[in-house]
Amino acid sequence: MWHFQNHDSPPLPPLLPFFFLTALPAQPDSSTYTNCPSYKCGDVNISYPFWMMDRDDPAQVCGYHGFGINCVDNRGRSYPEITLGHHSYYVHNIDNGYRSILLSDTNVSSFGPGPIDCPRVRHGINLQTLPLNFSMLNVNLSFHYNCNGFPSFATEIPCLQLEKTQGKSYVHVMHSSIEETDWDAYSCADQVVTAVIGEHIHMFPDLSRQLGEILDKGFQLQWRMDDDDCENCEDSGGRISLDI
Ligand SMILES: *[C@@H]1O[C@H](CO)[C@@H](O)[C@H](O)[C@H]1NC(C)=O
Ligand SMILES: *[C@@H]1O[C@H](CO)[C@@H](O)[C@H](O)[C@H]1NC(C)=O
Ligand SMILES: *[C@@H]1O[C@H](CO)[C@@H](O)[C@H](O)[C@H]1NC(C)=O
Ligand SMILES: *[C@@H]1O[C@H](CO)[C@@H](O)[C@H](O)[C@H]1NC(C)=O
Repeated sequence: MWHFQNHDSPPLPPLLPFFFLTALPAQPDSSTYTNCPSYKCGDVNISYPFWMMDRDDPAQVCGYHGFGINCVDNRGRSYPEITLGHHSYYVHNIDNGYRSILLSDTNVSSFGPGPIDCPRVRHGINLQTLPLNFSMLNVNLSFHYNCNGFPSFATEIPCLQLEKTQGKSYVHVMHSSIEETDWDAYSCADQVVTAVIGEHIHMFPDLSRQLGEILDKGFQLQWRMDDDDCENCEDSGGRISLDI
Protein backbone atom coordinates (compact mmCIF):
# COMPACT_ATOMS: atom_id res chain seq x y z
CA MET A 1 0.00 0.00 0.00
CA TRP A 2 0.94 3.55 -0.62
CA HIS A 3 0.87 4.84 2.92
CA PHE A 4 2.81 8.05 2.75
CA GLN A 5 0.00 10.13 1.37
CA ASN A 6 -2.17 12.54 3.33
CA HIS A 7 -5.40 11.39 1.81
CA ASP A 8 -4.94 7.86 3.09
CA SER A 9 -4.75 9.03 6.68
CA PRO A 10 -7.86 9.17 8.83
CA PRO A 11 -8.92 12.67 9.97
CA LEU A 12 -6.48 13.94 12.56
CA PRO A 13 -7.60 14.21 16.17
CA PRO A 14 -7.44 17.82 17.44
CA LEU A 15 -4.09 17.53 19.24
CA LEU A 16 -2.14 16.08 16.35
CA PRO A 17 -1.64 19.30 14.40
CA PHE A 18 0.54 20.54 17.29
CA PHE A 19 2.63 17.43 17.01
CA PHE A 20 3.18 18.01 13.30
CA LEU A 21 3.99 21.65 13.80
CA THR A 22 6.86 20.76 16.09
CA ALA A 23 8.01 17.52 14.45
CA LEU A 24 8.13 18.71 10.84
CA PRO A 25 9.68 21.81 9.37
CA ALA A 26 7.20 24.66 9.69
CA GLN A 27 4.90 24.72 6.70
CA PRO A 28 3.67 28.03 5.43
CA ASP A 29 -0.09 28.11 5.52
CA SER A 30 -0.67 29.36 2.03
CA SER A 31 -4.17 30.54 2.87
CA THR A 32 -2.66 33.32 4.99
CA TYR A 33 -0.54 34.56 2.08
CA THR A 34 -2.43 36.52 -0.51
CA ASN A 35 0.34 36.17 -3.08
CA CYS A 36 0.73 32.43 -2.45
CA PRO A 37 -2.85 31.28 -2.85
CA SER A 38 -3.82 27.63 -3.14
CA TYR A 39 -5.97 26.15 -5.86
CA LYS A 40 -7.68 22.91 -6.52
CA CYS A 41 -7.47 20.95 -9.75
CA GLY A 42 -9.34 17.64 -9.74
CA ASP A 43 -8.51 16.12 -6.35
CA VAL A 44 -5.17 17.83 -6.04
CA ASN A 45 -4.48 20.92 -3.96
CA ILE A 46 -1.93 23.16 -5.58
CA SER A 47 -0.06 25.68 -3.49
CA TYR A 48 3.34 27.33 -3.22
CA PRO A 49 5.95 26.55 -4.59
CA PHE A 50 3.59 25.27 -7.31
CA TRP A 51 1.31 27.66 -9.12
CA MET A 52 -1.46 27.53 -11.68
CA MET A 53 -0.38 28.49 -15.19
CA ASP A 54 -3.81 28.75 -16.72
CA ARG A 55 -5.25 31.21 -14.21
CA ASP A 56 -5.05 34.80 -15.17
CA ASP A 57 -4.90 35.74 -11.52
CA PRO A 58 -3.00 38.93 -10.74
CA ALA A 59 -2.85 37.90 -7.06
CA GLN A 60 -0.74 34.89 -7.91
CA VAL A 61 2.80 36.14 -8.21
CA CYS A 62 4.65 33.51 -6.17
CA GLY A 63 5.89 30.11 -7.22
CA TYR A 64 9.05 28.45 -8.50
CA HIS A 65 10.06 28.85 -12.08
CA GLY A 66 9.31 25.48 -13.73
CA PHE A 67 6.71 24.54 -11.10
CA GLY A 68 3.73 25.90 -13.04
CA ILE A 69 0.83 23.48 -13.30
CA ASN A 70 -1.82 23.29 -15.99
CA CYS A 71 -5.28 22.08 -15.16
CA VAL A 72 -6.43 20.12 -18.21
CA ASP A 73 -9.94 18.86 -18.86
CA ASN A 74 -10.40 15.35 -20.08
CA ARG A 75 -13.78 13.70 -20.48
CA GLY A 76 -15.37 16.01 -17.94
CA ARG A 77 -12.64 15.63 -15.32
CA SER A 78 -9.79 17.93 -14.47
CA TYR A 79 -6.20 16.75 -14.21
CA PRO A 80 -3.20 18.75 -13.12
CA GLU A 81 -0.29 18.46 -15.51
CA ILE A 82 3.31 19.67 -15.18
CA THR A 83 6.01 19.93 -17.83
CA LEU A 84 9.54 18.73 -17.03
CA GLY A 85 12.18 18.88 -19.74
CA HIS A 86 9.57 19.37 -22.51
CA HIS A 87 7.56 16.31 -21.46
CA SER A 88 4.26 16.34 -19.67
CA TYR A 89 3.34 14.44 -16.51
CA TYR A 90 0.11 14.03 -14.61
CA VAL A 91 0.24 15.17 -11.02
CA HIS A 92 -1.42 12.51 -8.87
CA ASN A 93 -0.69 14.05 -5.54
CA ILE A 94 1.23 16.88 -3.88
CA ASP A 95 2.25 16.33 -0.29
CA ASN A 96 3.35 19.56 1.35
CA GLY A 97 4.44 17.77 4.54
CA TYR A 98 6.97 15.53 2.80
CA ARG A 99 7.45 18.06 0.01
CA SER A 100 6.83 15.30 -2.46
CA ILE A 101 4.95 15.08 -5.69
CA LEU A 102 3.70 11.91 -7.38
CA LEU A 103 3.82 12.07 -11.16
CA SER A 104 3.18 9.79 -14.12
CA ASP A 105 4.34 10.23 -17.69
CA THR A 106 1.27 11.18 -19.79
CA ASN A 107 2.53 8.90 -22.61
CA VAL A 108 2.06 5.80 -20.47
CA SER A 109 -0.57 6.87 -17.98
CA SER A 110 -4.24 5.97 -17.93
CA PHE A 111 -4.85 8.75 -15.42
CA GLY A 112 -6.20 11.06 -18.09
CA PRO A 113 -7.30 9.61 -21.43
CA GLY A 114 -7.90 6.08 -20.18
CA PRO A 115 -6.27 2.64 -20.27
CA ILE A 116 -3.21 2.13 -22.42
CA ASP A 117 -2.92 -1.40 -23.79
CA CYS A 118 0.75 -1.47 -24.50
CA PRO A 119 2.68 1.33 -22.83
CA ARG A 120 5.87 2.45 -24.51
CA VAL A 121 8.09 4.75 -22.49
CA ARG A 122 9.39 7.28 -25.01
CA HIS A 123 11.69 9.45 -22.96
CA GLY A 124 13.60 9.62 -19.70
CA ILE A 125 12.80 12.03 -16.87
CA ASN A 126 14.79 15.22 -17.12
CA LEU A 127 14.75 17.26 -13.93
CA GLN A 128 16.98 19.88 -15.55
CA THR A 129 18.29 22.23 -12.86
CA LEU A 130 14.98 22.41 -11.00
CA PRO A 131 15.17 22.04 -7.20
CA LEU A 132 13.81 18.49 -7.46
CA ASN A 133 15.23 15.05 -6.74
CA PHE A 134 14.06 11.46 -7.05
CA SER A 135 12.82 10.22 -3.69
CA MET A 136 14.07 7.05 -2.01
CA LEU A 137 10.86 5.24 -2.98
CA ASN A 138 11.78 4.99 -6.65
CA VAL A 139 13.65 2.40 -8.63
CA ASN A 140 14.71 2.82 -12.22
CA LEU A 141 13.42 0.72 -15.08
CA SER A 142 15.53 0.45 -18.18
CA PHE A 143 13.85 -0.19 -21.54
CA HIS A 144 15.59 -1.51 -24.65
CA TYR A 145 13.64 -1.43 -27.88
CA ASN A 146 13.97 -3.54 -31.02
CA CYS A 147 16.93 -5.66 -29.97
CA ASN A 148 18.36 -8.75 -31.63
CA GLY A 149 19.12 -10.47 -28.34
CA PHE A 150 19.00 -9.91 -24.62
CA PRO A 151 20.79 -10.72 -21.35
CA SER A 152 19.06 -13.31 -19.16
CA PHE A 153 17.86 -10.90 -16.48
CA ALA A 154 15.77 -8.79 -18.88
CA THR A 155 12.04 -9.32 -19.35
CA GLU A 156 10.52 -9.28 -22.81
CA ILE A 157 7.59 -6.95 -23.50
CA PRO A 158 5.77 -8.99 -26.17
CA CYS A 159 3.16 -6.38 -27.07
CA LEU A 160 5.84 -3.97 -28.28
CA GLN A 161 6.83 -6.28 -31.11
CA LEU A 162 4.38 -5.12 -33.74
CA GLU A 163 5.81 -7.15 -36.62
CA LYS A 164 7.71 -10.43 -36.76
CA THR A 165 10.56 -8.75 -38.59
CA GLN A 166 11.02 -6.25 -35.81
CA GLY A 167 13.41 -6.92 -32.95
CA LYS A 168 12.05 -7.63 -29.48
CA SER A 169 11.89 -5.15 -26.62
CA TYR A 170 12.95 -5.66 -23.04
CA VAL A 171 12.75 -4.09 -19.62
CA HIS A 172 14.71 -4.63 -16.44
CA VAL A 173 15.04 -3.10 -13.00
CA MET A 174 18.28 -1.21 -12.54
CA HIS A 175 20.18 -1.98 -9.39
CA SER A 176 22.51 0.98 -9.65
CA SER A 177 22.43 4.24 -11.52
CA ILE A 178 24.46 2.79 -14.37
CA GLU A 179 23.67 -0.15 -16.64
CA GLU A 180 25.40 -3.26 -15.25
CA THR A 181 25.57 -4.99 -18.60
CA ASP A 182 26.80 -3.71 -21.89
CA TRP A 183 23.77 -3.84 -24.19
CA ASP A 184 25.78 -2.84 -27.26
CA ALA A 185 26.04 -6.47 -28.36
CA TYR A 186 22.24 -6.64 -28.77
CA SER A 187 22.01 -3.76 -31.27
CA CYS A 188 18.87 -2.27 -29.76
CA ALA A 189 17.36 0.60 -31.71
CA ASP A 190 16.59 2.69 -28.66
CA GLN A 191 17.03 2.76 -24.93
CA VAL A 192 15.21 4.76 -22.23
CA VAL A 193 15.33 4.85 -18.42
CA THR A 194 12.40 5.89 -16.26
CA ALA A 195 11.53 5.81 -12.56
CA VAL A 196 8.71 3.95 -10.83
CA ILE A 197 7.82 3.36 -7.18
CA GLY A 198 9.75 0.28 -6.00
CA GLU A 199 6.81 -1.07 -4.01
CA HIS A 200 4.72 -1.31 -7.16
CA ILE A 201 7.21 -3.70 -8.76
CA HIS A 202 6.40 -6.10 -5.93
CA MET A 203 2.68 -5.42 -6.13
CA PHE A 204 2.67 -6.16 -9.86
CA PRO A 205 5.41 -8.81 -10.23
CA ASP A 206 4.67 -9.82 -13.82
CA LEU A 207 6.74 -7.12 -15.50
CA SER A 208 5.93 -8.20 -19.03
CA ARG A 209 2.17 -7.92 -18.52
CA GLN A 210 1.73 -5.57 -15.57
CA LEU A 211 4.06 -2.87 -16.73
CA GLY A 212 1.09 -0.63 -17.48
CA GLU A 213 -0.09 -0.68 -13.87
CA ILE A 214 3.39 0.03 -12.56
CA LEU A 215 4.01 2.95 -14.92
CA ASP A 216 0.53 4.32 -14.38
CA LYS A 217 1.17 4.64 -10.65
CA GLY A 218 4.10 6.87 -11.35
CA PHE A 219 7.18 8.00 -9.46
CA GLN A 220 7.90 10.38 -6.63
CA LEU A 221 9.96 13.55 -6.61
CA GLN A 222 10.84 15.77 -3.69
CA TRP A 223 11.39 19.48 -3.84
CA ARG A 224 13.72 21.69 -1.86
CA MET A 225 12.70 25.00 -0.36
CA ASP A 226 13.43 27.14 2.66
CA ASP A 227 10.85 27.23 5.41
CA ASP A 228 10.30 30.95 5.07
CA ASP A 229 10.31 30.91 1.26
CA CYS A 230 6.72 31.86 0.78
CA GLU A 231 6.96 34.66 3.31
CA ASN A 232 10.09 36.02 1.60
CA CYS A 233 8.30 35.86 -1.69
CA GLU A 234 5.38 37.80 -0.20
CA ASP A 235 7.68 40.42 1.28
CA SER A 236 9.40 40.93 -2.03
CA GLY A 237 6.06 41.47 -3.71
CA GLY A 238 6.34 38.05 -5.29
CA ARG A 239 9.30 38.70 -7.53
CA ILE A 240 12.06 36.54 -6.04
CA SER A 241 11.09 32.97 -6.70
CA LEU A 242 9.73 33.44 -10.19
CA ASP A 243 13.09 34.71 -11.37
CA ILE A 244 15.44 31.95 -10.12
C1 LIG B 1 -7.22 20.42 -0.05
O1 LIG B 1 -7.50 21.66 0.56
C2 LIG B 1 -8.77 21.67 1.21
C3 LIG B 1 -9.02 23.10 1.69
O2 LIG B 1 -7.88 23.64 2.31
C4 LIG B 1 -8.76 20.65 2.33
O3 LIG B 1 -10.01 20.64 2.99
C5 LIG B 1 -8.48 19.27 1.76
O4 LIG B 1 -8.37 18.32 2.79
C6 LIG B 1 -7.18 19.28 0.95
N1 LIG B 1 -7.03 18.01 0.26
C7 LIG B 1 -5.90 17.31 0.25
C8 LIG B 1 -5.90 16.06 -0.56
O5 LIG B 1 -4.88 17.68 0.85
C1 LIG C 1 4.05 11.69 -25.64
O1 LIG C 1 3.96 12.85 -24.85
C2 LIG C 1 4.33 14.03 -25.53
C3 LIG C 1 4.27 15.16 -24.52
O2 LIG C 1 5.02 14.85 -23.40
C4 LIG C 1 3.40 14.28 -26.69
O3 LIG C 1 3.80 15.42 -27.41
C5 LIG C 1 3.43 13.07 -27.61
O4 LIG C 1 2.44 13.26 -28.61
C6 LIG C 1 3.11 11.81 -26.84
N1 LIG C 1 3.26 10.68 -27.74
C7 LIG C 1 2.44 9.67 -27.72
C8 LIG C 1 2.66 8.62 -28.77
O5 LIG C 1 1.54 9.54 -26.89
C1 LIG D 1 15.98 14.70 -1.89
O1 LIG D 1 15.99 15.97 -1.29
C2 LIG D 1 15.40 15.99 0.00
C3 LIG D 1 15.32 17.44 0.43
O2 LIG D 1 16.50 18.15 0.15
C4 LIG D 1 16.23 15.13 0.94
O3 LIG D 1 15.65 15.13 2.23
C5 LIG D 1 16.24 13.71 0.40
O4 LIG D 1 17.07 12.89 1.19
C6 LIG D 1 16.75 13.69 -1.04
N1 LIG D 1 16.56 12.35 -1.57
C7 LIG D 1 17.52 11.67 -2.16
C8 LIG D 1 17.16 10.32 -2.65
O5 LIG D 1 18.64 12.14 -2.30
C1 LIG E 1 17.66 6.51 -11.21
O1 LIG E 1 18.20 7.31 -12.22
C2 LIG E 1 18.35 8.67 -11.85
C3 LIG E 1 18.79 9.43 -13.09
O2 LIG E 1 19.89 8.81 -13.66
C4 LIG E 1 19.35 8.77 -10.71
O3 LIG E 1 19.48 10.12 -10.31
C5 LIG E 1 18.80 7.96 -9.54
O4 LIG E 1 19.74 7.97 -8.50
C6 LIG E 1 18.52 6.54 -9.97
N1 LIG E 1 17.84 5.87 -8.87
C7 LIG E 1 18.22 4.72 -8.39
C8 LIG E 1 17.38 4.16 -7.28
O5 LIG E 1 19.20 4.14 -8.80
